Amino acid sequence: MRRSWIQTISGVSYVSNILDRQLGASYRPTALDRGSERRWGNRLASLAMPQVSRGLADRRKIGAFYTPVELSQILADWAIRSVGDTVLEPSFGGCGFLEAAFNRLEMLGSSDPVASIFGCDIDPVAFEHLSTVFSRPVDLDQFRQIDFLDCVAGASWPDCFTTVLANPPYIPHQRIDQQRRKELSARSWGIPDVGGRASLWAYFLAHSVSLLEEGGRMAWVLPGAALQADYAASCRDYLGRHFDRCAAIVVRERLFLEEGADEETVILLADGHRRRAGVGVIELGEAQTLAELRARIADWSVGRWKGNTTGVCPAALSLTSGELARFEALAGDASCRTVGDFAKVQIGIVTGANPFFVLHRSSLDQAGLVEADCSPILSKYRQAPGLTFTVSDHATALEKGERGWLIDTLEVGSNARMARYLATFDAQRLTSIGTFRKRSIWHRPCDNKFPDAFLPVMHHDGPRLVLNMIGCNSTNTVHRVYFHSKANASDHKLLAISLLTTFSQISAEMVGRRYGSGVLKHEPRDAERIQVLMPKLAHDAIERGFDDIDRYLRDGDAAGASAAADALVLGRSGLSAEQLNDLRLALVTMRERRRPDRKRVERSNPNPLPIPR
Ligand SMILES: C[S@@+](CC[C@H](N)C(=O)[O-])C[C@H]1O[C@@H](n2cnc3c(N)ncnc32)[C@H](O)[C@@H]1O
Repeated sequence: MRRSWIQTISGVSYVSNILDRQLGASYRPTALDRGSERRWGNRLASLAMPQVSRGLADRRKIGAFYTPVELSQILADWAIRSVGDTVLEPSFGGCGFLEAAFNRLEMLGSSDPVASIFGCDIDPVAFEHLSTVFSRPVDLDQFRQIDFLDCVAGASWPDCFTTVLANPPYIPHQRIDQQRRKELSARSWGIPDVGGRASLWAYFLAHSVSLLEEGGRMAWVLPGAALQADYAASCRDYLGRHFDRCAAIVVRERLFLEEGADEETVILLADGHRRRAGVGVIELGEAQTLAELRARIADWSVGRWKGNTTGVCPAALSLTSGELARFEALAGDASCRTVGDFAKVQIGIVTGANPFFVLHRSSLDQAGLVEADCSPILSKYRQAPGLTFTVSDHATALEKGERGWLIDTLEVGSNARMARYLATFDAQRLTSIGTFRKRSIWHRPCDNKFPDAFLPVMHHDGPRLVLNMIGCNSTNTVHRVYFHSKANASDHKLLAISLLTTFSQISAEMVGRRYGSGVLKHEPRDAERIQVLMPKLAHDAIERGFDDIDRYLRDGDAAGASAAADALVLGRSGLSAEQLNDLRLALVTMRERRRPDRKRVERSNPNPLPIPR
């Protein structure tokens, strides 16, 4: 067998098409990158260090966010059981898992741990870490610089591995090169039905299981989306049915925040791989810190701890079983629907260059335009403080110096002002902006699909439906909502009210995705899945309730608005004041717990809200 060895890699002689594909042909590590990353790469006695020398943007392109040393060791200690184990690390990066595997195998009595460890990565910097970490020549057939998804078993690798340790790149579907996306979704993988909108990590998982021995173990560091995203459903199903036991533990401590990555982290442990499907589901749990995670894994291993198996999402871990039962009872009510039963949610318009297309009042003058050359647009959710977006809300936003005018280029042939303004757009940028190329007329971002209402994309305090009273459009920081024709004006208002109830806000927490700074994000399909209670109420009661709640919101009294919504919608649900209060507290806890540096929330309510009957 041909073998190649490296002692140290100083000059970067690799020319990798894969790296070019993911990182761009212009990227090569600089001397500074190499020097500092090598230093940080010496993990024999280090913590995972942020790779500040390489720009965050470049690291995002290849998903280079390294696992903290402590976590790598916790997972290696669990996943590697005997001295004879063979370990695969599909994207070894800073070599934290390789080093942890080395330590573990050595501890189990191996005289040559490196011989049992295999891996790959596309990044040359990873290979510099490799030579440093093992402090000895490294076999480059064992550690390949290749796209893992193109790695086949055999050759210099064993056919199968007993153990997989992985923290793969979290590269979302839309950031995978288009051609590569097509290739990936056309292939068949260890996990059937991976494809469609899958992020890169899902392909890594699918490919890894095809390289895992019967009875093998895997430990993965995954993004929160692994437990929630629709595209990951086949992975979840496979894991539950193809392993004797499988647990997903949400780590509340944000482990990668300092590294510039902000997704919630899920630790996936899969034990006892079986190629033939059985029955089973993933157990779900949480740990506040790495110390708690270590203890949880130890307890799980010996059957002292068992995760939740009711199929609930991470947010629901903040509910007690009684609260969950109450929530589920409301969800089972005959009046319970989803937002999607009443409306379609779509992203707002993508201009490709907001500062050029969406103007403030002052930039109109600079642009040589007048208000009549523009149409109103909702460019930030905060511009709509109530349950309606009105002419006066738009005017207030403009007065505050916010962007609110979308240039209207329909009449450009007869509007010399507009023609002059369009001619100021930089000619080079004009050809480089992808969004422009997708449009038949580059300067016409408005698709004339004016929505009935709006929903936020990202928010801290839960979603709110705002009715569009001025027939304007929104930019893509705000979702557009189109009511189905069967829903009438009263339904629209009741939907806006109902979405503010404690019940719907909990539902929104459950279907949304949590991001680093504590924001909750709803993609359009997520928003459509939010549950709402739509009891039969008198027209007058809805009108009055809508106006009251709108007023509360405009006065900045979100708690008052929510209490009024609960009173109107949950009033006849059979929920006692005490039970409702518990749900409100649970909602507060859920919101608090999505904040990365949140303090533990005391389960006591400073302002219990009575439930009016
Ligand atoms: C999230 S980092 C994790 C690194 C390492 N597994 C750890 O736990 O610290 C992801 C790694 O995937 C590598 N990578 C990205 N795309 C890859 C691909 N297609 N094949 C192999 N490695 C890849 C990146 O270079 C980066 O080192």
